[in-house]
Amino acid sequence: MTARPITRVLILNGPNLGRLGSREPEIYGSATLADIAAACAELGEQLGLKIDLRQTDDEAELIGWVHEAAELRLPIIINPAAFTHYSYALRDALAMRTAPLVEVHLSNPAARESFRHTSVVSGVADGTIAGFGLGSYELALRAVANLLD
Ligand code: DQA
Repeated sequence: MTARPITRVLILNGPNLGRLGSREPEIYGSATLADIAAACAELGEQLGLKIDLRQTDDEAELIGWVHEAAELRLPIIINPAAFTHYSYALRDALAMRTAPLVEVHLSNPAARESFRHTSVVSGVADGTIAGFGLGSYELALRAVANLLD
């Protein structure tokens, strides 16, 4: 347990991630977003982090949440999904961050189709964790806790 006050962390998920569990399980695994939320809540409790996990298929809504985090100085863990590869609007929003920012992916985009090899988000993040399924989110939470300590 940490001496740091409990911090809320936004775990933001982009398009199609609400379909986890049934979406291409050979690539993304069998865990649903609810499973990920439960695992993060459990680990968050140990790390002194309160998890606020959200998902949207809508770019504007996602950007609105990023603005909210900047206003409130909240750390963000984000899986931007396909927005990773082309949303300059999302990148510009994330660049205004006022707290730690970790990019996560369930799969390893670098080992997949070439259009997935570019992330327009990585350059404004503290770091990126990819390829470990649900474990990517747990590692990201540990990274946020370390950045806050
Ligand atoms: C993803 C990888 C992206 O390329 C893809 O568009 C997704 C999910 C991942 O978590 O592995 O939707 O971000």
